[in-house]
Amino acid sequence: MSTPPPTDDTVAGIRARVAAWRAAGERVGFVPTMGALHAGHLALVRTARRSAERVVVSVFVNPTQFAPTEDFSAYPRDLAGDLSKLASVEADAVFAPTTTEMYPQGFATQVSVGGPAIGLETDFRPHFFAGVATVVAKLLIAVGPDVAVFGEKDFQQFLVVRRLVADLRLPVEVVGHPIEREADGLALSSRNAYLSPEERATAPEIYAALTEAALAIRSGTDAQAALSAARGRLAASGFVVDYVELRNAEDLSPAETPPHGPLRLLAAARLGRTRLIDNIPL
Ligand code: PAF
Repeated sequence: MSTPPPTDDTVAGIRARVAAWRAAGERVGFVPTMGALHAGHLALVRTARRSAERVVVSVFVNPTQFAPTEDFSAYPRDLAGDLSKLASVEADAVFAPTTTEMYPQGFATQVSVGGPAIGLETDFRPHFFAGVATVVAKLLIAVGPDVAVFGEKDFQQFLVVRRLVADLRLPVEVVGHPIEREADGLALSSRNAYLSPEERATAPEIYAALTEAALAIRSGTDAQAALSAARGRLAASGFVVDYVELRNAEDLSPAETPPHGPLRLLAAARLGRTRLIDNIPL
């Protein structure tokens, strides 16, 4: 069994480690996570490795992106399990700060992104992107990577981070990694662990409904009719639908009629107490 990667829990620690690699001329890749790692995260590590000699993974369940009513305290945490998974893909270091290291007494700064952060997730989780943008800015500044890899399951998050990095001119390349799926189409997510066996059997409907809508739109069906059929299909399977929308893939602005250019179909729906999101290119 390979040895777990070394773990730093302070910004000073990870900075010193990365500085030493950089001094040796090595490129550094970075994968930010909230832990509870699955095969999707490990794929992000492999992608980072393709363009960097060293890969840092952060494990930090960020309180500021959860509303008081959400699952912050229940969010799955298993640092020991995460470290052994990261050993299997030969991550070079883990940054696992404490909450006080990230948000010390008196912390009063928030990064707020407009543009792609407006609408969709924000309509249902208004706190979410300020929390994500603030922590991602802090993580990128702490680690100082050449390249950072984000999963496209959180497609809106990926665009928000890309906007943030461009606007603040952070010297890092942001790379998106396509969604990893189970054999039945369900997008890999740490939150899938919350699903009961019955819900798990229903969950792939979200990808099926998106695929069906994409096919219909591609073959000329009116986009609004296809979206409403997808919402109906999900509701009939027991989901409470937050949204199923067709957007321009570059900035998430509403797709024109008839739709053209690179597009993305995005959905969020709740199954019991679990909120699932998914998206596909069109
Ligand atoms: O996608 C996630 O796991 C989180 O939103 C991120 C990017 C690690 C920030 O906490």
